Amino acid sequence: MRSPLLALPVACCATLCAVAVLLLPTALSAAAPAKSDAADPNAPISYWKQIRPIFQAQCQGCHQPAKSKGGYVMTDFAKLLAGGDSGDKAIIAGKPEASALVAAITPKDGEAEMPKDKAPLKPDDRALIAKWIAQGAADDTPKNAVQRIDAEHPPIYRRAPVVTSLDFSPDGKLLAVAGFHEVLLHHADGSGIVARLVGLSERIESVRFSPDGTRLAVAGGLPARMGEVQIWNVEKRALHVSVPVGYDTVYGVSWSPDGKRVAFGCPDNNVRAIDAATGEFVLQQGSHNDWVLDTVFSHDGSHLISVGRDMSTKLTEFETQRFVDNISSITPGALRGGLHAVARRPGRDEVLIGGADGVPQVYQVFRKTKRRIGDNANLLRKFPAMEGRIFAVDYSPDGKLIAAASSFNGRGAVHLYPGEFDSTIPELLLKAYADKIASAYSKEEKAEIERFTTEGVKLLAAAKFDAGIYALAFAPDSRSLAAAGEDGRVRLINVADGTVAKEFVPVPLAPAKKSVAE
Ligand code: HEC
Repeated sequence: MRSPLLALPVACCATLCAVAVLLLPTALSAAAPAKSDAADPNAPISYWKQIRPIFQAQCQGCHQPAKSKGGYVMTDFAKLLAGGDSGDKAIIAGKPEASALVAAITPKDGEAEMPKDKAPLKPDDRALIAKWIAQGAADDTPKNAVQRIDAEHPPIYRRAPVVTSLDFSPDGKLLAVAGFHEVLLHHADGSGIVARLVGLSERIESVRFSPDGTRLAVAGGLPARMGEVQIWNVEKRALHVSVPVGYDTVYGVSWSPDGKRVAFGCPDNNVRAIDAATGEFVLQQGSHNDWVLDTVFSHDGSHLISVGRDMSTKLTEFETQRFVDNISSITPGALRGGLHAVARRPGRDEVLIGGADGVPQVYQVFRKTKRRIGDNANLLRKFPAMEGRIFAVDYSPDGKLIAAASSFNGRGAVHLYPGEFDSTIPELLLKAYADKIASAYSKEEKAEIERFTTEGVKLLAAAKFDAGIYALAFAPDSRSLAAAGEDGRVRLINVADGTVAKEFVPVPLAPAKKSVAE
């Protein structure tokens, strides 16, 4: 009887609670051996499972190949033991009391040397580290998880990896392209690689230049192990900040207009932001109920807009970290699938969203009518559905164009629409929105809404490809855009007619015959 009950989908809380209560005695007795295991003072401590996660979350941001403070790298096991510039051995197997790392994390008068300028590690974590060293500091890292890639050993590609994100520097000189374990900086005209920014994250989900172009924010991680946000100094090609975030890759980075904060979406349903200079967390908001995939700041930076797999567009007030509003309707059926991308119209508080239902839509960020449950009063324009899912959207910097990119069954497209239209909502509609919920509109009102929201929606240009498109970015002069995706090739597209001016593979490919390690 029990197993069929347990196999029930997570739908009915009452049923589940009842099952939990019924199972309690059994569950306890089953857990008993594990408990006594953990209590065994001589049980061996696993570096990989117990110690590494502490270092990853607390230390590696400052102690990794791309950023080794004090000359100390903690992501390579031999270097972790060896220590850094001081010449003192960080870890001496069997002797925690003689290990410099233990001294560094041990607080004196409530403050520890490491992690630098942060709260000391928890007593339990310190005890665990000391005990692991006392037991001999064994390395049980699985072979396939050993990090072999850094700036001196950059990734070697046999084929072009999927491109998940792209961005032009504001001066129009550089194009950043997400690679495997790195971000490649290209000459914006596609004439060659300028630099390779190799960090800890294998998977790069999102890249964005700061408004002044001096820094590049990167979101990604090691799938199922850690999320990470990186901030690079573009001119020096140096990693400025590396912030570990949770246990899986993170998405959709965006900069506040003043370049001080970087926001991103997380698979634990939170939208977060850090201080771009220090890496401190400055915002966490958990009102989404599925992965958060993209973010953008309001025009003045006071609010954050986020979209996710829960089919919602959420507005968060930055200062209070408070959820303010659902910008797009959360009525079932209003959107037919999760949202992947959001972009804000330059100079205005209007956002373009796109997702699984393939319909690009423009919304005003701040509502002008009283909120009614189920209304869709912020909708300004709706565009015809693209084939498949939309994975990327962008506004041209001059605000005149909107672009959306899609993927369907090995095919992809980029559509261009006018970004400018009269977005004052007619009185009649304001009244209709204020008085009723969407489903209660009369036929005439519905027709008027449909006419208003689709008027001026004209496909200006379209480009089709034999590969899904996942990444899109307008060049600063608004005359071309870059698109890339499934087949790993970057296309520079003329916005006037949708023709491809140039196409290139953004990663250096290894000769096909030579056998190379990845
Ligand atoms: C915010 C950056 C930062 C973080 C996080 C950090 N460190 Fe450091 N660490 C430094 C700097 C900077 C130095 C160089 C010495 C100094 O300035 O104090 C250093 C030096 C060290 C050294 C001495 C290396 C040598 O031989 O000279 C050890 C050991 C060390 N850190 C361990 C740790 C451990 C363990 C953690 C995590 C619990 C950690 N650090 C987290 C910045 C950091």
